[in-house]
Amino acid sequence: MSDKTNQGGTFTGQLGFVLAAAGSAVGVGNLWRFPYLAAKDGGGLFILIYLILVVTFGFTLLTSDISIGRKTGVSSVNAYAKMKKGWGFLGILTFFVPVLIMTYYAVIGGWISRYIVTYLIGETQAAAGDKYFTGFITGEISPVVYALIFMLITAFIVYKGVEGGIEKASRFIMPLLLLMIIFIAIFALFLHHRDADGVSRTGLQGLAVYLTPNLEGLTLGRFLQILLDAMSQLFFSLSVSMGIMITYGSYVKKDVNLSKSIAQIEIFDTLVAFLAGMMIIPAIFVFSGTEGMGAGPSLMFISLPKVFAAMGVVGPVFGLIFFVMAAFAALTSCVSVLETVVANCMEIFHSERRKTTLIATVIYCIASVIIVLGYSVFYMEIKLPNGSTGQLLDIMDYISNSFLMPFIALLSTILIGWVVGPKYVTDEVESSGHRMSRKGLYVVMVKFVTPVMMLVLFLQSTGLLNF
Ligand code: PFF
Repeated sequence: MSDKTNQGGTFTGQLGFVLAAAGSAVGVGNLWRFPYLAAKDGGGLFILIYLILVVTFGFTLLTSDISIGRKTGVSSVNAYAKMKKGWGFLGILTFFVPVLIMTYYAVIGGWISRYIVTYLIGETQAAAGDKYFTGFITGEISPVVYALIFMLITAFIVYKGVEGGIEKASRFIMPLLLLMIIFIAIFALFLHHRDADGVSRTGLQGLAVYLTPNLEGLTLGRFLQILLDAMSQLFFSLSVSMGIMITYGSYVKKDVNLSKSIAQIEIFDTLVAFLAGMMIIPAIFVFSGTEGMGAGPSLMFISLPKVFAAMGVVGPVFGLIFFVMAAFAALTSCVSVLETVVANCMEIFHSERRKTTLIATVIYCIASVIIVLGYSVFYMEIKLPNGSTGQLLDIMDYISNSFLMPFIALLSTILIGWVVGPKYVTDEVESSGHRMSRKGLYVVMVKFVTPVMMLVLFLQSTGLLNF
């Protein structure tokens, strides 16, 4: 077994690694999906369930991926085969997740970048209109241009390599992102507004809506649904079971304390998600009551711009800060996806970084254009197995996140728990000479609890199981 770290590069140390991994984990999922699910799934109840899952499931999956990466020193496409003969298929399957996600992540990054320009050029009121967002994404030129710009910035960082690109960008972006979100979350608590009917609401009341567990109409079926919502959010949020953390793990030096790093990544990711809810839910509550909250994906692009427009003079400033922060979050995540694709390809084709990045960039520029045009020229309503309909972007998202990820997590926990044994991972965590915390928990989780839950999640997201 190789004890060298990946030829693709290395992080300088623990901080660089933690910030880069947190950069991957903290993304649009934290900013809109977590607050949206919290609002939909009973506020404090969802938060509580999520927190419990982070320190159990999240911890297990993150530890597995990162340790596999560091131990094998290679990316997913080779890592599983190196772990156990005959399991190479799992590596190939895992490789497909970033390959698919990359087709649309820069498109979302492009949408966010458009809103930075929106607030810079003073279109705050226009952005509050119902047609502004759809008008933009169904265009044929503008969303293509923004997606390509975002793609090129991502490619530039990956091109510069692990230390000079990814780590450097994360060291700059992540602390800034944290400062911005703390600032807006605190500001949101001081908001107050009286609407046309004379009803006045405050940010603190909104905070209570966010944090109070809502147990009304809670049945076992609903509870399970909330549990699965939290579980799938957790996956997406921690960027696990898609090879990303395996690749990043392969760049970690042998003396880094993995146990501590993993805890720091969990805390960073969860803190940003929690603060995003603390900022978004009170802000929407103050200006439109509880109505605007069930908005799903449109929360970020439709409900929030309405809030910024209603805030008066400070609105554009907060709009700008919010979308710059969102673009930062999306950028470091997008970088991790492209890096994983490039790292895998470098191993498959024995090619060097720069050339591989350039070729991948050309391919993904074309893919992004096709995905963008899925809202106009190639528009179609496609029915998904879980009952919803969507465009090209939703299809890619569905296959990667709802279908492949739980399946990969299921197989990889079986491989660790029952084929190679949890010691494979726990020994790697402790190989730096630091004790692994939550070791007993890890063993129980990886052998018994996680495989069962992943199977349930997989059956539910493929529509085979309904609550
Ligand atoms: N973890 C990121 C988020 O929560 O938004 C999303 C993400 C990043 C998903 C990278 C997938 C991915 F490959």
